[in-house]
Amino acid sequence: MTIDHKTLYNTEMLSKDYASRDYLEPAERAVIEVLDSNLSSMKMLDMGVGGGRTTKYFAPLALNYTGADYAHAMINACIEKYGDDYYFITCDARDMEELSDNSFDFVLFSFNGIDSFSHEDRISALKEIHRVLRPGGYFCFSSHNLNWNGLPDLFSLKPAKKAALANKSGASEETKDFKKNVDRGFRSAYKIARLSILNRSFRMKGYISKLRKSERGYIYDNSLNGKVKVYYITKDEQFRQLKAAGYNNISTICRNGFITSSTSLLNQDGWIYYLCQTGKNEKQKE
Ligand SMILES: C[S@@+](CC[C@H](N)C(=O)[O-])C[C@H]1O[C@@H](n2cnc3c(N)ncnc32)[C@H](O)[C@@H]1O
Repeated sequence: MTIDHKTLYNTEMLSKDYASRDYLEPAERAVIEVLDSNLSSMKMLDMGVGGGRTTKYFAPLALNYTGADYAHAMINACIEKYGDDYYFITCDARDMEELSDNSFDFVLFSFNGIDSFSHEDRISALKEIHRVLRPGGYFCFSSHNLNWNGLPDLFSLKPAKKAALANKSGASEETKDFKKNVDRGFRSAYKIARLSILNRSFRMKGYISKLRKSERGYIYDNSLNGKVKVYYITKDEQFRQLKAAGYNNISTICRNGFITSSTSLLNQDGWIYYLCQTGKNEKQKE
């Protein structure tokens, strides 16, 4: 069964799960280092804040902090967690009528929240975020990397088999291992067959190659238990979308926090973090 993203994010199970998370991704730590002392003079919008995982780390550093999410359940979880220490609002990134132009210095949309949108909605959200940012303001987000080297492995039994063989230990454990491996093998085969059905392709390698040619597309990849499809995009296409929406000074960060423009390094990760600025000049000309 598949359902829409908003319904899923509004479930108690997911809001509790996100509210229980208490860590920063290494790439988010890198962003804090880049923004450094400037954060203390920044009005920050934490879009798609979920259960407030990033709040604890960013909010005390910013001049002022607003957490926003279109799922009421997530906002309720944040209010329960942080009381009125910070400001939280229910708001949809695709149409933020509640928020005025040029009202933030920094917008964060972490953990691939933007990948739950349709292509058209993604473009609208990029423009909306640009609108609420002041000229020269920063936008940071992460997104699924269509050129990730490991992507085809998500749909292949080979890596699971390899892991099972590598796990095989001493002779006395062999029977136990064998049972475990058969069990694991069945589960992997079921998962892969299910994803193939959802993606309507039993040749996932071919499907991924086709998407790579168009540089973006949707994949059921077992995120959120394979209940929703996810937007994947190449770095080059993401740069084009950002530039078209008026952003510049784009830098890319590996999930491990390493800031680099090297495609081969970035493609070792399933996610890429982007940090960019609204085009100062374009906005000032308006
Ligand atoms: C993957 S979760 C990440 C939550 C949080 N940022 C974190 O890192 O733990 C994505 C979040 O984005 C929110 N979201 C998705 N689409 C949205 C939209 N159009 N407007 C606002 N929030 C949205 C979801 O409700 C969800 O809380």
